[in-house]
Amino acid sequence: MNIDVILGLQWGDEGKGKIVDYLAEQYDLVARFQGGPNAGHTLKFDGQKFVLHTVPSGIFRDGLINLIGNGVVVDPITLKKELDQLEALGINYSQRLFIAKKAHLILPTHRYLDAAAEAAKGVEKIGSTLKGIGPTYMDKTGRNGIRVGDILLPNFEEKYRSLCSKHLGLLKMYPPIDFHLQEEEEKWFASLDTLRRLPQVNSEYYINQALDQGKRVLAEGAQGSMLDIDFGTYPFVTSSNTVTAGVCNGLGVAPGRIGEVIGITKAYTTRVGSGPFPTELHDATGERLRAEGGEFGATTGRPRRCGWLDLPQLHYTIMLNGVTQLVVTKIDVLNHFEEIQVATKYRYDGQQTDQLPYDLCEVSVEPVFERHAGWMQSLDGITEFQELPEACSAYLKAMEQQLQTPVTMVSTGPERQKLLVKDVEAAV
Ligand code: GDP
Ligand code: IMO
Ligand code: MG
Repeated sequence: MNIDVILGLQWGDEGKGKIVDYLAEQYDLVARFQGGPNAGHTLKFDGQKFVLHTVPSGIFRDGLINLIGNGVVVDPITLKKELDQLEALGINYSQRLFIAKKAHLILPTHRYLDAAAEAAKGVEKIGSTLKGIGPTYMDKTGRNGIRVGDILLPNFEEKYRSLCSKHLGLLKMYPPIDFHLQEEEEKWFASLDTLRRLPQVNSEYYINQALDQGKRVLAEGAQGSMLDIDFGTYPFVTSSNTVTAGVCNGLGVAPGRIGEVIGITKAYTTRVGSGPFPTELHDATGERLRAEGGEFGATTGRPRRCGWLDLPQLHYTIMLNGVTQLVVTKIDVLNHFEEIQVATKYRYDGQQTDQLPYDLCEVSVEPVFERHAGWMQSLDGITEFQELPEACSAYLKAMEQQLQTPVTMVSTGPERQKLLVKDVEAAV
């Protein structure tokens, strides 16, 4: 069997949690392959809302195995909080949630370093979620990190002390910030008990054996392709490979085993944190998108920046990921817009281009917009693609044509069932 992939094609928060939760029913195993508690994946069903940060979004499906892969960075404190919440809801994750021994641990001092580095950058700050993501991946690539499997080693505490004192030394190089190490350290060590109760696996063997046995496996991305460390709007990115290639590194799966790549985009664009955003709206329309879309961060509560759909940007991330199917979420947010715009090209350096320039962070590109009529009606009660209002179908068709990728699902609300799924066989 091959491994299917779900990931975000924009700057995160595309609705990955909802789509993974919906599709999980068709899989045996869901695995996160990168990122950490900077992610906030929202699921809504049975009138309740859940936000997951480290735990894969398949956890609410009975009997389904969930794996936190080696490419993920794990903060035991936030993981414990998340698991306590699941327990309070009566979700039994025992023997259903596995963790890779090779996943790296976020220490309290990684968070302090994140905060100190951001404070020192001032107006140039990345707008990090301050969960310690950057410093933890720095220690991973710098070959200083501590991994989940290390917590069972006799010299674990020694390793911790050594890294922690290195961090305290580094913190002295920054303007001082406020922190309470002893308190946080106590919490961190106490949380390791929860981590010790999770079955630890060599996830590369585990996942390849599952695929060999014919198990259906889904890889769940975090963040979005425009936040990828290599291909995103550097330096305003996260510190992992959020694109399909990250699945190979983050789970130990060979490239030839990648199956369907399901790319998610909102029907418009959002971004949280700093950095370039060519189609951003700084006017009342942007505010309206934020209000109607409830565009506030699931992890930090920060207002998200909003703008129109950006086809050159999507074209770029579809190319990077090898997307085979598109999912369009939050189409309902546009229900009452008389006119909807879509960027088809950029004006840059006196010319028109459909490519993202290298120096996007230094120069401003001017999007060339195409206008679409809105449908001016609610989509409630619509359960099939064929029932969509004509203007809405035309909007989706234009996307498909310009992006040369089929739209196979359209999400019409946050709830699990508010999803139109194309009968792919009938469509071809
Ligand atoms: P993720 O990080 O990609 O999982 O996305 P988030 O959970 O951070 O943000 C997506 C937000 O949009 C959440 O509040 C979801 O409940 C909500 N959402 C997802 N799909 C839809 C949709 O089709 N329509 C509306 N109105 N909201 C949606
Ligand atoms: P999900 O999985 C949206 C953004 C931050 C910041 C930059 C770097 O919910 O889509 P970091 O904490 O990684 O140092 O932040 O990346 N960011 C996200 N934006 N959704 C996310 O995750 C994000 N994770 C990080 O806002 O701009
Ligand atoms: Mg999110």
